[in-house]
Amino acid sequence: MKFFVDSANIEEITKLKNLGLADGVTTNPSLILKAGRNFQSIAKDICELIEGPVSLEVSSSSIDQMRAEAEKLRVISENVVVKLPMTWNGLKVCRDLANSGIKVNMTLCFTANQAILAAKAGAEFVSPFVGRLDDTKIDGVGLIKEIRTIYDNYSFRTKILAASIRSLEHIKNCAIAGAEAVTAPPAILRELVSHPLTDKGLEIFLSDWEKSNQKI
Ligand code: G3P
Repeated sequence: MKFFVDSANIEEITKLKNLGLADGVTTNPSLILKAGRNFQSIAKDICELIEGPVSLEVSSSSIDQMRAEAEKLRVISENVVVKLPMTWNGLKVCRDLANSGIKVNMTLCFTANQAILAAKAGAEFVSPFVGRLDDTKIDGVGLIKEIRTIYDNYSFRTKILAASIRSLEHIKNCAIAGAEAVTAPPAILRELVSHPLTDKGLEIFLSDWEKSNQKI
C-alpha cells in the first residue's frame, strides 16, 4: 500500500518523508488555504521534495478553464498529477489529459458508478472520500470494497486512492479492502506505528537488559 500525505504543509511533509511515509502528496484548495502560502511556490517546493505523485487540484469547473489550469499545473513538475472534480466536465477534461499522457486524480468520488466513469475516462487515480461518506452514515470503506470488486471485474487500471481518512481504522480497513493507496493527514500517518503495549514492552526489555549488565 502507498501512503500519501494529505497536506500542503512543507514542514509536515518533510517530517513524514524522513519517516518513509511520503510515497506521494495530495492537496486541494482547502489544504492550500490552510497552508497560507503562494500556490505556485508551495507546489514547486512539494514537487522538489517528493519523488512520487503530487496531486494539484484545479480551481475552476468549466472545461476550458480546467484545461488551461491543467496545462499550468502539468508544467510545474513531471510528478504532478492533475486533480479534477467528479463532474461531466471533469471527466471530459480527464479523458483529454489521459489521451495526452497526463496523469489525473479524479476527486470527490462518492459512488461506485462515479468510480466506473473515472476508470473509463482513463484516470490514474480515483479518490473516494471515505470519511465524508461515514459522516452521512454511509459506509465509506464499503465503497472502497465495491470499487475494488468492479475494477477487478473489468481489469480497470485506475488506482484507488482512499481519501478523507479520519482514523487508523480507516487506513487498516482500506488496506484490507484493497485500495492501492491512502492519503491521510500527517497526524494520522504519524500514529501508524503507535501502540501502548509496544511502548510498555520496549520499556521492560530495555530495563531488563540494563539489569543483566550484558553487552551485545
Ligand atoms: O484528499 C481529500 C481530503 O483532503 C478531504 O478530507 O477530512 O476534508 O473530508 P476531509
